Amino acid sequence: MFGREKIEYKTAEQVQVMRRAGLVVAAAHAAVRDAVRAGVTTADLDAVAAEVIREAGATPSFLGYHGYPATLCVSVNDEIVHGIPGPRVLEPGDVVSVDCGAIVDGWHGDAAFTVVLPEADPADVALSDATEQAMWAGIAALAKGERVGEVGDAVEDVVAASGTPYGIVQEYVGHGIGSAMHQPPEVLNYRTRERGPRLRAGLCVAVEPMLTRGSRATQVLEDDWTVVTEDGSRAAHWEHTVAIGPDGIWVLTAPDGGAARLAELGVTVAPWNSTTGPV
Ligand code: MF3
Ligand code: CO
Repeated sequence: MFGREKIEYKTAEQVQVMRRAGLVVAAAHAAVRDAVRAGVTTADLDAVAAEVIREAGATPSFLGYHGYPATLCVSVNDEIVHGIPGPRVLEPGDVVSVDCGAIVDGWHGDAAFTVVLPEADPADVALSDATEQAMWAGIAALAKGERVGEVGDAVEDVVAASGTPYGIVQEYVGHGIGSAMHQPPEVLNYRTRERGPRLRAGLCVAVEPMLTRGSRATQVLEDDWTVVTEDGSRAAHWEHTVAIGPDGIWVLTAPDGGAARLAELGVTVAPWNSTTGPV
């Protein structure tokens, strides 16, 4: 996707602005979580997120991106990513992935979560949990590792340890993020020989694994956006925007900076504030 283009290493000040964007995304997520249930349409959820972002004085980053027509991507059941909100009415047991991006003063935040509506199939809950766990393991690898490629190793290890043969989507990957939503480097969700760039202060990336209950093969629908599993199996998607600072990592789209979930993985988060200063 990006080849060997130059990475934009951020200063402490720029990461502070990205934190503001990240918290707007987190607020939009919270509002959508409150609103999501059987009977609402995916367009209803889009309106909820749009209002939160507007109220915060921020800008939705997806709207108009390569002509994308909405604030959110809402991907249901066999839809993996880039589902366009519309008149679809959510039903009990649906697997709903919500992806949201916001811009504050030119700096981006991007995050996604999956929720399984009641009465949930336990296998769908396990899928979402494994995907979330894969995301956190990938984020922890940014703290513990040397190179970006270690994110993919961590995601694969979680899937292997789950004991369930989930498909790991390969066509859509995580990415650098900053003054644009998508920047180099690519952040793969699978192991390769290519180790990727060094992890160093100023690098900001979105970690976003997508798992399926079947094959990893994908297909794009007629609308030219919606990505579905080729075999019709259900999919989950989790994403956070993460900054690497001089003293550690900071999950910009998590209200607690990732502290609680990363503590379980032996990682202490390090908010990059003015006392630590620019690189
Ligand atoms: N949030 C997606 C990503 O993580 C991008 C959405 S594409 C858009 O990369 F067109 F909807 F913006
Ligand atoms: Co993203």
